[in-house]
Amino acid sequence: MTQTEHYILPDIPEYHRIDVYESNGGYAAFRKALGMKPDEVTDEVKKSNLRGRGGACFPTGLKWTFMPKTSDKPKYLAVNGDESEPGTFKDRQIFEQNPHQLIEGILIGCYAMGITVAYVYIRGEYGKWIKMLQAAVDAAYEKGYIGKNILGSGFSTEIYLHKGAGAYICGEESSLMNSIEGERGYPRIKPPFPAQRGLWGCPTTINNVETMTNVPLIITKGWEWYSKIGNVKHPGPILVGISGHVNKPGVYEVPTGVPLLELIHTYAGGIPGDKKLKAVIPGGSSTMILRADQLDGVCMDADSLKAAGSSVGTAGLIVMDEETDLIRILSRLAKFYHHESCGQCTPCREGTGWLHKVLERFEHHQAKTEDIDLLLDIANNIEGNTICALGDAAAWPVQSMVRRFRGEFEKCLAPASH
Ligand SMILES: Cc1cc2nc3c(=O)[nH]c(=O)nc-3n(C[C@H](O)[C@H](O)[C@H](O)COP(=O)(O)O)c2cc1C
Repeated sequence: MTQTEHYILPDIPEYHRIDVYESNGGYAAFRKALGMKPDEVTDEVKKSNLRGRGGACFPTGLKWTFMPKTSDKPKYLAVNGDESEPGTFKDRQIFEQNPHQLIEGILIGCYAMGITVAYVYIRGEYGKWIKMLQAAVDAAYEKGYIGKNILGSGFSTEIYLHKGAGAYICGEESSLMNSIEGERGYPRIKPPFPAQRGLWGCPTTINNVETMTNVPLIITKGWEWYSKIGNVKHPGPILVGISGHVNKPGVYEVPTGVPLLELIHTYAGGIPGDKKLKAVIPGGSSTMILRADQLDGVCMDADSLKAAGSSVGTAGLIVMDEETDLIRILSRLAKFYHHESCGQCTPCREGTGWLHKVLERFEHHQAKTEDIDLLLDIANNIEGNTICALGDAAAWPVQSMVRRFRGEFEKCLAPASH
């Protein structure tokens, strides 16, 4: 894959229409998969090294092997399109431009894991894209790709859309399942893991929208082809959403492993007014902030960002120029996490509010020197002490900002503290 080739968002007009998708080879991967044994399909995905695009980079094929091969209960697939993380806006491009490749990926996944019902959990605010995806699902039903005895294969599966109601927590996989079941969106304690006890107590796999949209490529072109795209340990095309201080914000499809500085300066057209870069949040608001001087050689792949002290997350790259008030940014983020905490775990419910309160003291130049370490103390007491990772997501930006931008906090102390 060169940097101008596009496999997730191809530059083909009207690609969201089923006839256009089919005339460009669409649904051939599903037909091919139906001619393979389910385990062979999973094996192909496993060997491709595809890793989840929903935040944790978990190996997709491995996840699929956790599903029991036989089960006296139904098995489910939940496709995560909640997309509520600040800085993340890439799945909606798939809903708009390439919904059939997503549907085809879902069908292949269902066939591989013996699943008969898939839900696409879609961000409730995405009115336009909900309609577009529903239209695509309806068209696929009409053509006989979804439903009973698909293409005469004997394999049957249904696909339903489930709208979220505006809660970030419902993107967390176990809250998502509670939400689909009509319950309050509280995360569940693991184990049991979803493959053992998921939706309605039945085996369930949860995968991100972009993850599933990669699957037809692997089946059509083979795992070897796919595994050579971009970074060898985290391969494939990846959608990078670039926002903040750039001339051309947007979603860019690139091979994994592209340097962050190239994404900012070449793809997104650099920083307006030729200002200097101050910092980036590389993968959506939950990932650790990096200083501009830490970015040399850092690339958009799991290992590179881990070595730099952050993570790929959802590849939502937030760019901040030299004039950015980082304390204001962090305080706004803390407010978001406080508002979105479901309240089930005390460290998160209380701690996110405390973080916001202390950050407001910095914003209003009323903080004391010891408030800097207090922030770290609160964040450290949230991290790892909650049922789900929303607590970690709230702690990491604070921890990384204090460690990497301590001077910004010192500039905001109350006059008497200097
Ligand atoms: C608070 C929170 C919100 C999340 N929101 C999303 C989301 O909107 N979309 C998503 O795919 N994953 C989200 N995740 C990650 C999911 O729990 C899960 O790991 C992911 O959907 C698995 O898909 P993948 O293996 O294909 O990446 C969230 C996690 C947390 C802790």
